[in-house]
Amino acid sequence: MPEKANLIIGDQTYELPMLVGTENEKAIDISKLRSLSGCITFDPGFGNTGACQSAITYLDGEKGILRYRGIPIEQIAEKSTFLETAYLLIYGHLPSQTQLTKFSQSFSDHASIHEDMKNFFNGYPLSGHPMGILSAMVCSLSGYYPELVNPGPTKEDIDKIVVQLLSKVRTICAFSYKKSIGESFVYPRPELQYIPNFLHMMFSTPKREYNIDDDVVDALRILLILHADHEQNCSTSTVRLVGSSLANLFASIAAGICALWGPLHGGANQEVIEMLQMIQKDGGNIAKYINMAKDHNSNFRLMGFGHRVYKNFDPRAKIIKETAHNLLKKKGIKDPFLDLAVKLEEIALKDSYFVERKLYPNVDFYSGIIYRAIGIPLNMFPVMFAIGRMPGWIAHWKEMIEDPATKIGRPRQIYTGELRHDYIPMDQRPK
Ligand code: CMC
Repeated sequence: MPEKANLIIGDQTYELPMLVGTENEKAIDISKLRSLSGCITFDPGFGNTGACQSAITYLDGEKGILRYRGIPIEQIAEKSTFLETAYLLIYGHLPSQTQLTKFSQSFSDHASIHEDMKNFFNGYPLSGHPMGILSAMVCSLSGYYPELVNPGPTKEDIDKIVVQLLSKVRTICAFSYKKSIGESFVYPRPELQYIPNFLHMMFSTPKREYNIDDDVVDALRILLILHADHEQNCSTSTVRLVGSSLANLFASIAAGICALWGPLHGGANQEVIEMLQMIQKDGGNIAKYINMAKDHNSNFRLMGFGHRVYKNFDPRAKIIKETAHNLLKKKGIKDPFLDLAVKLEEIALKDSYFVERKLYPNVDFYSGIIYRAIGIPLNMFPVMFAIGRMPGWIAHWKEMIEDPATKIGRPRQIYTGELRHDYIPMDQRPK
């Protein structure tokens, strides 16, 4: 492996240093390129640009590998809890029993939101999308915890804000759901663990306590863990970019939630079910929709298919498909959308268009089937993704602000607009 890369521009050769990661990923360090050569690099969509060095998550899209802090996702999904996974991502190692107990207990202490914040929910129309409400509420937390949002937080401040956010986010999500169906808010119960407490706040009513079902809790555990981090994706990069200005954690994560909402990112789980609904209504004509997805003029894409990084298979999708089948079987649920999704996948995976472009089901293709089985409404699907991704966003924000090499994120551009010309007074402009 050479230690330097030579870049030739015209008759000049520039020697650029190389970086190598622990998994032998190679990068040309162009951080001095502009001052050396006057040139910048051009990489729309950042497909070839490393924005940071990170020790949190490793993924190899060609081989379908995903690891959190070095541990394969398959092992974590099988053996860990969501809180333990959050600890692993944020603090860099698996917790001891004492550390985990302390971490879990602090969640019960901080599950409630400030009573005044409840008024915000009443200001939204019933039709307000819960992702918009979630983002606004998370940003609003900065107004309620001013002591935690100073630039240059101490280690203790960071520990406190991490727990406040992770714990309160499920309360905010459940409250926004209750608001959307016009039901009273249900308060968290301190004796319940993370996922059962969320289900309780979502589905209990003042008159009827939700019956916590272990199979449902387990399916949700797997889903949240699989969504917990995915290195420099669109929303995580957003969190890092916003946080690089020293914006506080709540503000940075609120921006990440907005980025996740888009249909090409975390909003895709909602889009998949809407697509299946559309296909079903149209008589189950899969071939028609496959053809539409292949036609670039149709503006239709197979939602839940394709990934910027995975070019073989998405290991998360594999586990989620299996979990969906298991949960439906255990609960005796027949969901016609599962059969439709399986058929769609089978047909697409044999089609040369998808094969040649290496398009496979991603994390969003089957997750909606599980949410439906649990009774989570369609517009809450991206919110579930956001709850799951919270530890990853926090871990990246923490890694970034603790790294002395961090600089404010500020890409450059190639200007393609008008050359200099003078201001034209109104009476001289064309009518
Ligand atoms: N259906 C049909 N064609 C597709 C699809 C799709 N879902 N995805 C990519 N393509 C085609 C695309 O038209 C292009 O074709 P061509 O080479 O002929 O121009 C080729 O495949 C490469 O696509 P791209 O848009 O350059 O790939 P990208 O890396 O920029 O986009 C993606 C990745 C995930 C945005 C895209 O695959 C997509 O839009 N998928 C559907 C939305 C979706 O499921 N998003 C969830 C992503 S996973 C969860 C997360 O982490 O956010």
